Amino acid sequence: MKRLLVIDDEPGHRLMVRAVMEDSGWTVEEAGSGEEGLEFLAQDRVNVVLLDMRMPGMDGQETLARIQELHPGLPVVMLTAFGTVGSAVVAMKKGAFDYLTKPADNEELTAVLEKAWDFGRLMEENENLRRRLSDDDPTAPIVGASQAMCRVRDFIRQAGPSEATILIMGESGTGKELVAQALHDASNRAAQPMVKVNCAALPGHLLESELFGYMKGAFTGAVRDKPGRFQLARGGTLFLDEIGELPLELQSKLLRALQERVVEPLGAVRPVAVDVRIIAATNRDLRRAVEVGEFREDLFFRLNVLEVVSPPLRDRLEDLPMLAGRLLERLCRKNKKGIRSVSPEFLDALMRYAWPGNVRELENVLERSLILSRSDTLGPDSLPSQVLTDRQDGMDRQGRGWGADAQPSLPRGDTGWQGEGDALNSGYGGGVPGAYPGSLDDAERDALLRALDVHGGHRERTADALGISRRTLQYKLKKFGLIRRGM
Ligand SMILES: Nc1ncnc2c1ncn2[C@@H]1O[C@H](COP(=O)(O)OP(=O)(O)OP(=O)(O)O)[C@@H](O)[C@H]1O
Ligand SMILES: [Mg+2]
Repeated sequence: MKRLLVIDDEPGHRLMVRAVMEDSGWTVEEAGSGEEGLEFLAQDRVNVVLLDMRMPGMDGQETLARIQELHPGLPVVMLTAFGTVGSAVVAMKKGAFDYLTKPADNEELTAVLEKAWDFGRLMEENENLRRRLSDDDPTAPIVGASQAMCRVRDFIRQAGPSEATILIMGESGTGKELVAQALHDASNRAAQPMVKVNCAALPGHLLESELFGYMKGAFTGAVRDKPGRFQLARGGTLFLDEIGELPLELQSKLLRALQERVVEPLGAVRPVAVDVRIIAATNRDLRRAVEVGEFREDLFFRLNVLEVVSPPLRDRLEDLPMLAGRLLERLCRKNKKGIRSVSPEFLDALMRYAWPGNVRELENVLERSLILSRSDTLGPDSLPSQVLTDRQDGMDRQGRGWGADAQPSLPRGDTGWQGEGDALNSGYGGGVPGAYPGSLDDAERDALLRALDVHGGHRERTADALGISRRTLQYKLKKFGLIRRGM
């Protein structure tokens, strides 16, 4: 769809443009001033802006500068009255896409705007491409090549740059905070702060002043103004973690802040406008909380403009070898330990466990093993007993988790498997999720091969799916002898 925003103080001229462009299949939005135009753009997206040079208040030059600052890549076509072409040329030098003189000829108007639309699309594609190829992929810290995780990453790339409020749901330890951070990093607010509030960490009244702040003298002990997190996050993102724990009386205050984009610090005479993007997370089933009257329905709908679910680890066990590898790298650095590999039995035990605490639990288990281990290969003896004993559970759930969209799982549960020795001999072939060979390196190599295979050898897509940079992919391909050096 082609959307145009006309910023012009003359209603008659806006009407003329609307008539011509709607005839050519465009949707036309109008703003009567530079200020109004910017306000519109802060909320909504268009493909091209047609901007009048001479307007009372903020003039064309100034509006152009603001648009370029806030919406780089958005093509702007200047409109100038006869005799002010000079200033249009200046605007072109400052990055306007083109200019038209008033009154614009219908055909010329359409032709220039169509060209601007093409250009904008190209810019956008280039930008996306650049982002995909660059090493600063905001989703890079999120490890996992399973379909479920690829979906989460796609969501982040798509929804991150919007201004929409997002609700992240998912069990404890599944990486909700990581997703929130990636959403912020993928947004146009990435250069501004992401401010976090844990709604479960403070009792109601303290949480209230954390969120909304207070003025000096608002109560005994309020010796100076304290800005709330809403104000601290201005221009950036406010991450409301554990939103399901927000007390009811604060829910209505938050709702008001979200609806009206203002906060009222305790003791303030008037509300303060705040420009923040909200991301919230919860491990509670909020729909259920709404049903039982513990969470306001209107607030739920406000938060839940877009929703993403962080999948539990047991539903994407094929990600485990790679996750374990990455986590171990990090933990080795932190603990100043050098672990070269893990034993097949160790990995096998990890793959058979249900991981109720998800990635956080995996991280804890690995760190513990790392600390307890006396050799540079981690073995099952370093694992906590529940990981070794709760395996049946793991197999069950694993079967369920894979059922939907993966290849048939291995009949590992039914092979009369009894002990570690048997486990190794139970015939894990290649190419099936969970059919991992012994060491982490092998598992990684396997995952690489599988991802390459899925993506037809396409390096960019493979790197993307694995959540690593192309450079890292290149490095790993060389490391595993999958390509020759120098390629
Ligand atoms: N996909 C992943 N890739 C790499 N690390 C991950 C991934 N998912 C989670 N982690 C790591 O696991 C730990 C827990 O993640 P995080 O704190 O984001 O979970 P959470 O869903 O917010 O949990 P909780 O509900 O308990 O707050 C963090 O150390 C995080 O870095
Ligand atoms: Mg969390």
